[in-house]
Amino acid sequence: MSNAVGAAARRVGALRAQVVDPASSSRQTPQEAPSARVGLVDWFFGASGIGGKRASFTVAVLGAAGGIGQTLSAFIKANPKVAELRLYDVAPVVRGVAADVSHVNTRAKVSGYVGDDELEACLRGCDLVIIPAGVPRKPGMSRDDLFGVNAGIVRTLCEGVAKTCPNAIVNIISNPVNSTVPIAAEVFKKHGCYDARKLLGVTHLDVMRAKTFVAAAKGFDDPTLVDVPVIGGHAGTTILPLLSQTTPRCSFTPEEVSALTNRIQNGGTEVVEAKGGAGSATLSMAAAAAEFADACLRGLSGESGIWACAYVESKATRAPFFATKVLLGRNGVERVAGTGTLSSYEKRALESMLPELEASIKKGINFLHS
Ligand code: NAI
Repeated sequence: MSNAVGAAARRVGALRAQVVDPASSSRQTPQEAPSARVGLVDWFFGASGIGGKRASFTVAVLGAAGGIGQTLSAFIKANPKVAELRLYDVAPVVRGVAADVSHVNTRAKVSGYVGDDELEACLRGCDLVIIPAGVPRKPGMSRDDLFGVNAGIVRTLCEGVAKTCPNAIVNIISNPVNSTVPIAAEVFKKHGCYDARKLLGVTHLDVMRAKTFVAAAKGFDDPTLVDVPVIGGHAGTTILPLLSQTTPRCSFTPEEVSALTNRIQNGGTEVVEAKGGAGSATLSMAAAAAEFADACLRGLSGESGIWACAYVESKATRAPFFATKVLLGRNGVERVAGTGTLSSYEKRALESMLPELEASIKKGINFLHS
């Protein structure tokens, strides 16, 4: 699985070791000073990108002036696989966000686009379109409460994708993901350009939370080395961490399973409540979306063995969209994994979440046909 953020953390130690001692550096001319690798690209993604090759992709962030969008844009700017970064929002400040992000000393060219009239110019020639546009939750709200506003936003933006860059990979972040991904699929079907391999709901933050919380509970020093598949959807009990498939292998008491599952399912609500009405998860989500986007770009570049969890069209269960691990390649999703062997707790949790997930999917599909 892509591990750009984790790799960045591991690199911090190495970089510290390379920082020049001020006492000795003061005696050196700039030409003589050791060329410590302190570039943002190296810090975040490795000298030539995790696992290798530089490439020249055009990436758009729709909703780039928002809490997720701004931070995500800065992360994407640091990705050496990106040649062009297009930032779009209905809020005019996105031009300022683009100006700000453009000063980061990496090679991606950055431009800002505002409103409907500029959507097409933003999307033309894009390889990857990331959509965090829409309203976030406030305390007491469920993700489904956002449907009324965000469904229409996702529909409009996906219509733009269908008309302008129908072959792009699309990463949907806007909630409720369980419904917005089916909405996007229906838009693409209506325009005759639906390719299930290229539409992915971003559930990677649930995976990041699972790694973090399991590492803390089990005393693992480095959460990046922990793997916990998270399946189902991206809302409440439809988020199902498969603790029985955790690696490194470890055992959990029934109490631990219940407490960890509950915390992973409610990680988003934990942040919404902690922010007290000022928004939902933005910084961790931006890191998750950047890591997931990097996995998609690595797949597009032809790297092999890139697995990540995502909410996609699936036959893993009776729900037509479902999150499991997927193999990313040159055309997007090359393979959708099954659920693997489940514990009896996980089997029960899966059975009981499916009606809600199916209803959310139906709601998304019906939105396009009402
Ligand atoms: P935000 O309110 O800070 O930013 C949203 C941005 O979208 C704003 O800049 C706004 O102007 C823009 N926007 C609104 N309508 C638009 C349109 N038609 N076209 C383009 N841009 C438009 O919200 P935040 O915190 O960035 O969250 C964005 C979405 O991401 C929310 O729906 C939230 O629930 C979701 N989210 C998803 C997560 C996931 O795991 N998939 C995790 C956290 C949040």
